[in-house]
Amino acid sequence: AALTLTTAGTLLAGTPGQAAPTGWGRPIVTAAPQPGASGLGDTYFPDYGNGGYDVEHYDVRLRHDPATDLLTGTTTILATATQDLSTFNLDFLLDVESVRVNGWAATTSTAGVHEVVVTPARTVTRGQQLTIVVRYSGIPSETLVGGYTGWTRTDDGALAVNEPESAWWWFPSNDHPLDKATFDISVSVPTGVEVISNGVQPRPPAAEAGNRTRWIWRTTSPTATYLAFLAIGQYDIVTDTTPSGQPVVNAYSTSLGALGPAARASIERTGEIVDWCSGIFGPYPFETQGGVAGPVDGISFALETQTRPVYGPGFWRRGANTYVVVHENAHQWFGDSVSVAEWRHIWLNEGFASYAEWLWSEEQGEGTAQEVFDFVYASYPADDEFWQVLPGDPGAGRIFDNAVYDRGAMTLHQLRLAVGDDAFFEILPAWATEHRYGNGTVAQFQALAERISGLDLDDLFTTWLFTAGRPDVASAARKAA
Ligand code: ARG
Ligand code: ZN
Repeated sequence: AALTLTTAGTLLAGTPGQAAPTGWGRPIVTAAPQPGASGLGDTYFPDYGNGGYDVEHYDVRLRHDPATDLLTGTTTILATATQDLSTFNLDFLLDVESVRVNGWAATTSTAGVHEVVVTPARTVTRGQQLTIVVRYSGIPSETLVGGYTGWTRTDDGALAVNEPESAWWWFPSNDHPLDKATFDISVSVPTGVEVISNGVQPRPPAAEAGNRTRWIWRTTSPTATYLAFLAIGQYDIVTDTTPSGQPVVNAYSTSLGALGPAARASIERTGEIVDWCSGIFGPYPFETQGGVAGPVDGISFALETQTRPVYGPGFWRRGANTYVVVHENAHQWFGDSVSVAEWRHIWLNEGFASYAEWLWSEEQGEGTAQEVFDFVYASYPADDEFWQVLPGDPGAGRIFDNAVYDRGAMTLHQLRLAVGDDAFFEILPAWATEHRYGNGTVAQFQALAERISGLDLDDLFTTWLFTAGRPDVASAARKAA
């Protein structure tokens, strides 16, 4: 690709920001290149992501040592400038050794808690292609923000799995779901350690000097930064191919012991569950699938990491659990392919994935969605503080509150009752199709549901997503009817 090293404004009009001397009377004024914003204006997390450029691809090339948790690496970011830039930011926490922009050494400084400010040697112009090469190192498990790290060190390795902050501890990025990109992720580890990540392995793990092995993973569909992941440690990897030829990669931590069989019995059903989801939500959006059963000393949640969810060990304690597999795979449509435009729209992820579990219950003959609704509704007394959290605007500290999941699923059930099954099961795939690989807001979803149903759904959405207190079910249904 051609490198554009000129600052067009300067050549045409003299000193940026100043009136150029011209012979035509009216001075030409060019704006001086500005710093890229330190955030994308997310209501809950204003400094997440960065302004002024758009990333197309991350090439994350790492070396990890489980014995020390030392991570060293080089990430190459391919991006396009969306404005003239004097500086731009990356979201990142480890120690940056150097940054090059289109081959030229840049200077860097830090700002805020997770911002690296990059000053390129040459001004960047709008539309310019950028190749940003960042070399770095650090111990992610010891790199704390408010006492917290999104990188989990384990006995045998590590998990880079967290939401909404995950990338900060392992690759510099434009860390917001508005800026999706493709990924090549490669990690060198001591031979005998496994590395699992998103997508497919373009080639098998290859031996390197020093008794090490390099693992390479590739994701070819647009991916939000928080949905890229690493699982490093002792895993049994089981590969397969779906009837339609799609590669399946499942991985089971060897630390699971007695929990192992339940983990396998659950994650092995991913293909069946993805097919069932496809029947309701439309074609599966990605090129591969699977699941990772994380280690006993790892995470206490599950995450819909793209093409390959990661599950904490707790889900297997009462035996096989297909509901969590349904939840995380439903997120592949709602969360991963269609991502939130801002974190306050988290209901579009968690409400939908939770309602998928209710539909699965119905499918399994373990209770209809209506029966699950009645049970969940009754399980929160009217004076429970659960009803004070608004699923449509839960607050930055409550994006994973039970209300977002349970009242969120209740909302979709009320929508289904209001519009009828025909419209409801047209709305869900339409949402997945119309925003495929993109982003969405609650207002956009409401508009789509109104378009397909022909109903004014404002009362329903206001009552269920944006009003504190337990809605009266009978009256909610009556209003919408
Ligand atoms: N999206 C995840 C889920 O499906 C939520 C994980 C939240 N927990 C966390 N520690 N970040 O439930
Ligand atoms: Zn979820």
